[in-house]
Amino acid sequence: MNQFLEINRTGTYSVKYEESKTLFDSTNVIPMWVADMDIAAPKVIVEAIQKRAQHPIYGYTIYPKEYFGSIVLWMKKRYGLLIQESWVVPANGVVTSINFAIEAYSNIDDSIIVQTPIYPPFMSSVKNHRRKLLENKLLYIDGKYHIDFEDFEEKAKEAKLFLLSSPHNPTGRAWSKEELTNLMEICKKYGVVVVSDEIHADLVYKGHNISFASLGYDRSVVLNSPSKTFNIAGLKTSYAIIPNKKLRFAYQAVQKNAGIESGNPFGIEALIAAYNEGDLWLEELKSHLRGNIDLIKNSLKANRIPIKPIDTEATFLMWLDCKELFGIHKQITDFFYKEAKLGLSDGILFGNGGEGFMRLNFGTSSGVISLAMKQLNEAYARKH
Ligand SMILES: Cc1ncc(COP(=O)(O)O)c(C=O)c1O
Repeated sequence: MNQFLEINRTGTYSVKYEESKTLFDSTNVIPMWVADMDIAAPKVIVEAIQKRAQHPIYGYTIYPKEYFGSIVLWMKKRYGLLIQESWVVPANGVVTSINFAIEAYSNIDDSIIVQTPIYPPFMSSVKNHRRKLLENKLLYIDGKYHIDFEDFEEKAKEAKLFLLSSPHNPTGRAWSKEELTNLMEICKKYGVVVVSDEIHADLVYKGHNISFASLGYDRSVVLNSPSKTFNIAGLKTSYAIIPNKKLRFAYQAVQKNAGIESGNPFGIEALIAAYNEGDLWLEELKSHLRGNIDLIKNSLKANRIPIKPIDTEATFLMWLDCKELFGIHKQITDFFYKEAKLGLSDGILFGNGGEGFMRLNFGTSSGVISLAMKQLNEAYARKH
């Protein structure tokens, strides 16, 4: 039975659908932007939430031993990574944690490295805290993204912090052990703290993600959540893994100062169910998402659409090089939003290197992907 069929999200106050109307100035655009999926969460999660909801008191909730235990178990069974429960700091969202980490590990005017193009909050969080943004621009060579290590080392000399997206949003790169080790060695040399956002780690298509926590660098923090993997982003339940006591206390102090101490009862139940019982569903999801990648690539090729899909090694987000489609960026966005009626994320939002690109969220049913490709093909045919 195909459990990844189209699902109607009307009436759920979905950001992706509600904000589409203003964002794309239209009610009939297929939303393929913000990173959640149009896919039902696994039954084990739905049942765990339903069970908890039956108890009519939804008061302040502790993070129970089971919560920490399931994170330790997930890291061990999925990644062979041995972490201790005491290293885990529960949090209310990865972007929130990025902001807290910036406060904890840097001061005003300190420099922070990010690798552009990048998920926009990496840049805005740095700027909002009045830190200096150092862009280690990724190298785009023959349709693939690489790290410019020479430039990275130059920037590391003056940086306090490095915000790593691993796997990388929007390019879909799952960094190799060698690449991560090189980054780690440079950060070690200059004493740069690494905050590795691994929210897309479970969605690596070949092999598995290499967590920064496996490299044994004691000035590093890993941020993660079951939110992307199991489509439960609205539950705002995430965590940081911080082996180094000093770094952990510094982070915890900032989070506590913001008044954040207890968790979301439904998020806690969902995380425990996901990490204890979600493995099989995750494998099925990945195979479904691989199918969607093939559908998109095959359709672009068969219809000779001059859009280059970047190899999606991880995530349910595809980075599309549209520079051959039109030379002017505004023509590209107009084509997607007004002609093809597809609400993709505008590449420009991802900073340097985003011009000429669009990001397509393919975390949906294969039916919606086929419809989106049909609209794209028809719009292209009308233009040519
Ligand atoms: C790389 C990355 N980090 C963080 C987030 C958001 O995480 P959260 O909802 O936990 O703040 C996203 C969502 O798109 C993401 O792609």
